[in-house]
Order: sequence, then C-alpha cells, then structure tokens
Amino acid sequence: MAQTRIILGIESSCDDTAAALLRAEPGRPVGEILAAEVFGQESLHAAFGGVVPEIAARAHAERIDVVTEAALARSGLTLADVDAIGVTAGPGLIGGVLAGVMFAKGLAAARGLPLWGINHLAGHALTPRLVEPIEFPYLMLLVSGGHCQFLAVEAADRFRRLGGTIDDAPGEAFDKVAKLLGLPQPGGPAVEAEAGEGDPARFALPRPLLDRPGCDLSFSGLKTAVRRACDRLVAEQGGLTRADRADLCAGFQAAVVETLAEKTRRACAAFAADHGPRCLAVAGGVAANAAIRAALRTVAEEQGFGWSAPPLRLCTDNGAMIAWAAAERMALEGPDDLTLSARPRWPLDREAAPLLGSGRKGAKA
Ligand code: KG4
Ligand code: ZN
Repeated sequence: MAQTRIILGIESSCDDTAAALLRAEPGRPVGEILAAEVFGQESLHAAFGGVVPEIAARAHAERIDVVTEAALARSGLTLADVDAIGVTAGPGLIGGVLAGVMFAKGLAAARGLPLWGINHLAGHALTPRLVEPIEFPYLMLLVSGGHCQFLAVEAADRFRRLGGTIDDAPGEAFDKVAKLLGLPQPGGPAVEAEAGEGDPARFALPRPLLDRPGCDLSFSGLKTAVRRACDRLVAEQGGLTRADRADLCAGFQAAVVETLAEKTRRACAAFAADHGPRCLAVAGGVAANAAIRAALRTVAEEQGFGWSAPPLRLCTDNGAMIAWAAAERMALEGPDDLTLSARPRWPLDREAAPLLGSGRKGAKA
C-alpha cells in the first residue's frame, strides 16, 4: 500500500498567491488539508478594472515565500516534514506561473524534495476526490472567471473535453455586467445579490447556442444584450433606477442558469453514452452562485447522476488542489526534473480541437 505523504502545494497562476499542506495517500481519494493560505490581490488590481499581469507577477514573487511560511506555521509543520512539492506550472499568466515554478524548484533543489508540475485545470478538475471518495470516471463542469468547460475525468491524467465556451467564460460575463451596472468587482456575488431583488422576466435576453446541438456555450452575446437593454433605458429615462438594475441582473442570471442547465443536461447525456450515469461535479468561482448550483444539482438528479460541489474555498484558486493533483500524479508517474518550465497554455485534453477564443486570454481558471 502506498505511504501517506505530506505535500506542499503552490499556486500563483492568476491573482491568488496560495500555499497549502496536505496529507494524502497517492492515488487514493480524500486528503486531509493541514493548512491552506491564500493571499488575494484584489486591492492591487481594483483601480484597473481587471488583473494586470505585471502587477500580479511582482506580487506573487514578493509573497510566495511568505504565504508558504504562513501555511507551514498554521499547520505546525516545518519544511523537514514535507515529503513532496506540487506547483502550478500552467496554464495562466506567465509571470505568476514563473514565480511559483522558480520558487518551487529552488525549494526542491535545496531540500532534495521531489517536485510535480501541475496543470492548474487538473487541480480544479480533481478537487472532488480531495473531499469525497468519488471514483473515476466522473463529469466535471469547470466554471470560473477564465474557463468554462465540460470534462469527462477518466483518470488523474486523462481528461476528455466534451464542450465549453466559444468566447467568454461565465464569470467574466458576470464581472462585465457588474462593471456596466456600476457594481463592485468581482461581479458574481454583487450581481447575484441584486438578482435576488429583481424580476427575471422583465427583459427578454437570449439563451445563447441553445438552438445548436452539443454542449458548447457562449456568453459574449448575452453580455452585449444586457448592455443594449441598459443603453435603451439610459436613452429613454436618462439613467437606471434600482429596480432596473435588479431586473437586469435577475434577467442576466436567469439566462446563465437556464443555458448552463440545458448544456449540462446534454453533457450528462454525452457522458452517460460512454460511461453510464456517474457523478456530476462542479468547480470554479461561478459554482458559488446559489441559483446555478441549485439548477445543476436538479439536472444531476434528473439525469440519475450523483452530485458533488466542493466547498467554495476549494472551488476558487487554492494550494490544496495543487497538492492534491500532485498526490494523484504521484501514483502514476515519477516527479518532474529541474528543467520543469512554466506554460502559459496547456490544454487538458490534447486531442480536443483548439477553439477560437475559449475564455479570457491567458487568464485564471
Ligand atoms: O475560480 P475563481 O475564483 O477564479 C478564476 O477565475 O479562476 O472565479 C472567479 C470568478 C469571478 O469572475 C467571479 O465574478 C465569479 O467567479 N463568481 C461568481 C460568484 N462568486 C464568484 N459568479 C456568479 N455568482 C457568484 N456568487
Ligand atoms: Zn482557477
């Protein structure tokens, strides 16, 4: 039987500098998170209305040792207790990924520790097994500010992409709608709160790509439709009332919920054709949205699938998922050597045809 290991996980691919210590048995589901620290960068980017890659890279380089020390201190462990390191080696903003990879390589070389370079998307996609004893294969919907894809997770190193966005990611659409309506960033929670007060039926907004077969999605036209409805109100009334804003948010969220639910239904059917009904799991910041979560859970039940939604702190970017993905890889293959490099692009499914724009360029997942 494989031995239990203590793994340090390091994440720096977008705007969260994160480190975690995890106890896990390579290849066996459910790990124990001993400590997980995340230093967010929202305040550094707030004035610019989005993540500025150079600022992010510098902040990661300045804080990556501090966040690691904080995680070690919280766990009551020292580097001498660590058996292995997992680090995000892509995809993401290259400066941030480099900061993490260089730091991890330095640590691995200095301490003689084995190092695994982890695909950030694999970190998200494998998270359900960190918290629950879910067996492969399962269906994953990854919905975040930078990514949106359906994946058949067949093994820790085998992912098949069933579909995904052909333009914006849903989180990006939430953020842009929030910006348009003068709500704070990140936009998802703000739009969700406003939507709770609004009438989802007042504005007729599109349900993109529902008329086409398959489970690809699109969110950019929906965002433009919200902008047009908003511009019309401003032209007619000179501005927006609170009720207008709430109704626009409610209409937008309802369109996202309905589209995601229908495409998930189709993804379940496509997955079940190969594997039978298994478990539908979600990850990514957008999975925090209560209306989206509820709708997806209903779809899972309807399709005879199990349901797994990891706690929010594990849905958003974190070091524990990277340590966990390293534990999964460890059971399959040896460590990377010190030639490990940072990759801005790194598709999980090497066979899937590249899409024209699949979420924000070089962004987080
Ligand atoms: O996974 P995440 O923390 O970062 C990456 O994109 O990797 O996701 C952040 C995204 C943001 O776009 C944010 O607006 C969205 O998740 N988000 C939400 C909610 N909470 C966060 N979207 C809709 N409803 C929410 N409650
Ligand atoms: Zn991510």
